[in-house]
Amino acid sequence: MIEPRDLKTLDKSGASGAHQLKHVAIIMDGNGRWANQRGFSRIIGHKHGVKNVRTVVKAAKSLGIEVLSLFAFSEENWGRPLLEVRSIMALIDQFIIRDRKTLDRENIRLKVIGDLTRLPLKTRALIENTVEILSKNSGMILNVAISYSGRADILNASLKLAEALKQGALSPENVTPEVFSKYLSTSDIAAPDLLIRTSGEHRISNFMIWQLAYTELYFTDVLWPDFSEQDFYAAIKDYHMRDRRFGLVKTQNPESLPL
Ligand code: FPP
Repeated sequence: MIEPRDLKTLDKSGASGAHQLKHVAIIMDGNGRWANQRGFSRIIGHKHGVKNVRTVVKAAKSLGIEVLSLFAFSEENWGRPLLEVRSIMALIDQFIIRDRKTLDRENIRLKVIGDLTRLPLKTRALIENTVEILSKNSGMILNVAISYSGRADILNASLKLAEALKQGALSPENVTPEVFSKYLSTSDIAAPDLLIRTSGEHRISNFMIWQLAYTELYFTDVLWPDFSEQDFYAAIKDYHMRDRRFGLVKTQNPESLPL
């Protein structure tokens, strides 16, 4: 049994390879298989998946994590059967309506990345309204990717950057990775330190592909609806054992790195 205080101690002690953990990103995969294994519809799997979002948000907050990014719905997911897409949108609506008070009480801010223009009007309005209401908070940022594509994020950033160059607001010699990252949808948050993907798949699936350049990857066979607080702590314990060098050698200080 891993206790949150054990993880904090590990972090503070600066044990070999330990590195501060500010941003955790999760690809929440396996809802469909979880449901199939039980003879339920995929939609029931997503319902349990949302339940588990609450568990993990609570666990992340208890550890003092600054940003928790969750991949809720990819741009590619629009190609799923209409009933499944509609059900996921309804679950997002329900999550916002039921949980925004709790998020507020917990001082959590909400950020949403992705192409919101494709969402049902009701969902989009609920999201925008809740982001606004929670923007006064100062605690953990819950960053939810909906209708999100990492390549589209990079493409949009490139177009904005090209426009700035065209307008003369920026000159080519000043375009560095740091400057480029300011045009991405994640311009206000640091890159993830740790990416967790559940359900045994070993892919990034177009999630924050620029931002994940030096992120530690953690894969587990556990299906998302079963991914418990203890599984989350185990991922973090594993992260603290790693030796992050950012392409440098051990004696160099990785703090000087970009992004
Ligand atoms: C992955 O399982 C899940 C999805 C593609 C979307 C469902 C997302 C949620 C229920 C979370 C919504 C988040 C919030 C914050 C409300 P899968 O369907 O790909 O599973 P499979 O690979 O087993 O088929």
